[in-house]
This record gives sequence, C-alpha cells and structure tokens, in this order.
Amino acid sequence: MRGKNVLITGGARGIGFGIAKAVAQMGGNIVCLDSLPEPVEEFKELPQRFGVKTHYFRTDVTKESSLYKSFKDAVDTVGDLHGCLTAAGVALDKPFQEHTWEESRRILEVNCIGTFFSVQLAAKQMEKQGTGGSIVTIASIAAQGNTCPGQRLSIYNMSKGAVKAFVGPLAVELAPQKIRVNSISPGITRTPMTAALAIQYPNLVKMFDRVPPLGRMGSPEDIANAAVFLLSDASPYVTGADWLVDGGLHAGTSRSLKDPSEQ
Ligand SMILES: NC(=O)c1ccc[n+]([C@@H]2O[C@H](COP(=O)([O-])OP(=O)(O)OC[C@H]3O[C@@H](n4cnc5c(N)ncnc54)[C@H](O)[C@@H]3O)[C@@H](O)[C@H]2O)c1
Repeated sequence: MRGKNVLITGGARGIGFGIAKAVAQMGGNIVCLDSLPEPVEEFKELPQRFGVKTHYFRTDVTKESSLYKSFKDAVDTVGDLHGCLTAAGVALDKPFQEHTWEESRRILEVNCIGTFFSVQLAAKQMEKQGTGGSIVTIASIAAQGNTCPGQRLSIYNMSKGAVKAFVGPLAVELAPQKIRVNSISPGITRTPMTAALAIQYPNLVKMFDRVPPLGRMGSPEDIANAAVFLLSDASPYVTGADWLVDGGLHAGTSRSLKDPSEQ
C-alpha cells in the first residue's frame, strides 16, 4: 500500500486504530477522522516506525458541517484518496423495552448516517480523481441476524444490518467507476467498546473468550488483516462482499460450551 492514502473514520482507538496501524505497516498514509480530542499515543509513533504520513482531524461523523470540513481538509492535505474505511461506531446493550428514542436515534445517526455520508464523500472524491478506490465499512456479527449469547443489542443489530445491506447494491452502482465496496463483520473484539461492557457486565465479558469456536475474543489485529487485504490491490476482484472475521461465531458457538461438564 506504499504511497496510498487511506481515510479511516473512528481510527483514534480500537478496531479503527488497529486498521490504521496495519495500513501504515504496509506503507499507506493515514487520515484519521474521529470525535475524540486525540488518538491513542501509538498513533503518533506510526510515521517514524513505518515511514508514512499520518493526519488527525477531530470530526463528528453525525454532523454534516464537521464531516464535510474534515473531508475537505483531508483531501487538501493528502491529495488523492485511494481507500476509505468507516469504523466510527457506538453500541448500546440494554433490554429492548428500555431503549429510549434519544439513545436509539444516536446509534442510528453514528452507525448508519455517519457511515452513509462518509462513504458518499469518499466515492465522490474517488470519482472526481478518476482513480477508482476501495471502500470498506465495518458491519458486525450483529448484522447477521443472530447475536452473542447474553447480549441485548436491538437498535445496534438494526444499525449494523443496515450497514451490511448497503454494501452489495452500492458495489454494483459504483463498479463502473472502479470503486470497490465491501464490509467486514467482526465478531466479539477486544477494544475500549467491549472493555466498557466489562464494567457493566463482568460475567458476560468472561464468556466472550469461550463462546467463539476458535476459543477467544478477536483482536483489532485480526480485523486489520482482513481490512488491509480489502483496501489493497491484493483484492482487485472482491466487491459487494461482507467478510466475517469472528472466530467462527456466525457458524455456531464453541463445542466446549456444550460439554455438560462445563455447564
Ligand atoms: N468491539 C467489538 O466487539 C465489535 C464487534 C463488531 C463490530 N464492531 C464495530 O467496529 C467499529 C469499531 O468499534 P470498536 O470496538 O473499535 O469501538 P471503540 O469505541 O473502541 O472505537 C470506536 C471509535 O469510533 C469513534 N466515534 C464514535 N462516535 C463517533 C462520531 N460521532 N464521530 C466520529 N467518531 C466517532 C470513537 O471516538 C472511537 O474512537 C464500530 O463500528 C463497532 O460497531 C465492534
């Protein structure tokens, strides 16, 4: 990915940062858009470690003016965009009957509207350049119509289902412009998002390491490997796909959970 410029929303920490690091390791330059005042400390080490350029623009992807300004600043700074990955996202774990309008709207605004318009801006820029490009959205195991045992993620499931459903038709629409569009559906991944759950539901989080057939939670690096493949020229014939990177969770839960001695 040497010389390629990749814009990542939600790249300040967690899965988004893991992907930023992996892209940098492969020689790509990073533009990170995130609502946090600053990215994790390690973000600042990437240029020296990997000989790439990194830029950080504080952005709220749910605010039209903020997102448009950051995209403009990004393009003014780096020139062409070759890749765009949307990882900005929020989750809510609580019983369905207790979800309020305000918090449910927030989940849809960040996960759906923020993703939709980030992808639109990237596609417009790639079309203007005439270079084509690769767009990757982060959906979820929660988009697959099932859920991790013990979780109550109704509005989150709905939002991620929308992210997954958006990718196939968009891949068809943007193919003539040589813009590939794919999503990744991570399983349960160790990030600040899941760490926050550990405080609220310690027993649930203990189970996360036992539920996937591969016997552990995912890491941001697990997800980043798939992202680098989809963002790079290693996947020129892959578009409209949703890649499950979940330790096998979409196929079932770990057999050890069915061992009566472990119940
Ligand atoms: N961690 C998991 O188990 C898991 C599983 C499947 C999918 N995902 C998805 O992966 C993505 C990354 O999640 P994560 O686990 O790294 O979470 P995280 O909370 O560690 O990272 C999410 C990032 O998005 C940013 N963000 C949130 N709202 C924003 C906004 N309005 N504007 C700009 N940035 C905003 C946050 O500041 C943060 O840096 C999310 O879309 C999440 O839904 C996570």
